[in-house]
Amino acid sequence: MNKSRPWWQEAIGYQIYPRSFYDSNQDGVGDLNGIRLKLPHLHQLGVNLLWICPFFASPMDDYGYDVKDYYQVDPMFGTLEDFQALLKEAHSMGIRIIIDLVLNHTSDEHRWFMEARKNQYSKYHQYFIWKDPKKTDEGKILPPTNWRGYFSDSAWHYDDTVKQYYLKIFSKKMPDLNWENKSMRQDMYDVAKFWLDLGVDGFRLDALAHLAKDLTFSNSTLPVAADGLVLDASKFSSLPRVFDYLKEFKSEVLLKYPDILTIGEVGGGVSPDMSLQYIHPQNGYLNMVFNFDTCWENGAFGSDHKADHEIKTNVVQLKQNFMKWYQTVSPLASLPIYWLNHDHPRVVSQYGSIRYRQESATMLATTLLFLYGTPFIYNGEEIGMSNVDYEKLTQFKEVSALQYAKQASEKMDESTILRFLRRTSRVNARTPFQWNDQPFAGFSTVEPSLQVNGNYREVNLAKQQKDPKSIFNYYRKAIALRKKPKVMESVLTGPLSLVDPLNPDVFAYVHEGRPALLVVSNFRGFEVEFKMNRLINLVLLHNYPTIEKRGLNLILRPFETYLFEVE
Ligand code: NOJ
Repeated sequence: MNKSRPWWQEAIGYQIYPRSFYDSNQDGVGDLNGIRLKLPHLHQLGVNLLWICPFFASPMDDYGYDVKDYYQVDPMFGTLEDFQALLKEAHSMGIRIIIDLVLNHTSDEHRWFMEARKNQYSKYHQYFIWKDPKKTDEGKILPPTNWRGYFSDSAWHYDDTVKQYYLKIFSKKMPDLNWENKSMRQDMYDVAKFWLDLGVDGFRLDALAHLAKDLTFSNSTLPVAADGLVLDASKFSSLPRVFDYLKEFKSEVLLKYPDILTIGEVGGGVSPDMSLQYIHPQNGYLNMVFNFDTCWENGAFGSDHKADHEIKTNVVQLKQNFMKWYQTVSPLASLPIYWLNHDHPRVVSQYGSIRYRQESATMLATTLLFLYGTPFIYNGEEIGMSNVDYEKLTQFKEVSALQYAKQASEKMDESTILRFLRRTSRVNARTPFQWNDQPFAGFSTVEPSLQVNGNYREVNLAKQQKDPKSIFNYYRKAIALRKKPKVMESVLTGPLSLVDPLNPDVFAYVHEGRPALLVVSNFRGFEVEFKMNRLINLVLLHNYPTIEKRGLNLILRPFETYLFEVE
């Protein structure tokens, strides 16, 4: 490891959705002991930084992002002692852990909200955002603004006890916190310190860009839909006030723990330039931000009006999206790089092909792992897990999918909704990890709360461990290579540029380091000819058994990928 850079720049990240990873106590839900028992798998894979999605006490309306008690582990996931044991064992294996801290909202079952709701004069009432209803001439009550939330319905929910609306930009069981309130902020800092004192290596900060709201609470002027609502991110995303909150969070908490990693989830609305306000090494507040610019480049997002054949990866745009972040951010800060998280479809279904599962999963691994930044592999990606094969809407047991289906049923038939959810729903990434070909994919011995993907006898880790050519073994090899000091140096200090940037099918880039590294990846399920303008010294990684050329050009077969050392 190069001592001049922070540890997390050289880390290989791996995201775990605890509910779906491994069920150690056979209740159908994954848990912390399950993660601990599977550390050898992660160690064998070669990752050394885990991001674990929330495991705090929660009514599980949004599977843990609705926190009821930040100081408790939900009994479903285990105990605080289980977490400490996991942390200790991970650390002993050289694996660090960042946890998912939810600062934007709590559960409506959190003590603060229960008090807030019971008594308008309690200090906790001010911890949330309340507004009086609007009234029509007929006396009907309406939400205070036309804002839509992220889960399809209004951003406001009426509370019958208080007789006011509270803001909730996610589900109605997730009231937004009022970051203008100093006492609430202090309480949240205590939460953060509690986990850092326990030894966690940092945080992924959920929904961070939304902490500040448009405090004028005026209607959006964007065009509204038939229900009178519009999702207008400018009302609650990256407003200037968020940086005042972060400044205080940094001075009161983060500066006291200098070796930690903080990654803020800022979503799609933040440009690379704007991201520097969050992560600039001198006057920013965090180490990195998660945006989604490399996640939906096949047009699947919001695609319920599209047929399957219209969903196609825009490779040129995908490359440009990465490059614009690289060019702006890399001279100053680090980038997390990833194809998906627990809110997205599986990447083999998204950018690859289940027909060419092995080829496309390994191609995506190569393309990702050698880009500049800190890679994050999402659990199951290392064995090529793909989207669900569910046949019924009721199988999509997840709050935003159900909310979407409810709203969409007014204008669409069930098969269209089903097709859309199979393509885009976040349930796709949340089905149980496929450990082996035993019932329930070896995830549990009882029926899991989210149904296992029907392909588990074909696609599972045990099978792939035995096969030297498997996706899993390819990942291991690629990660080991990525961690070699010279390769690491070249990847991180580059400089990186695209080769043939306008090529519509091939994602190719070069690091002009020592050694110079060239990645060439065919993103298509058909053959493509690629002009080579560099002399090859070595083939470091390749997902086909033979090399095919025409003159100097490479003939790339479906989803073929190479990592070369070049002159
Ligand atoms: C972003 C998380 O990734 C997502 O899963 C969650 O629903 C929202 N934030 C709300 O916490």
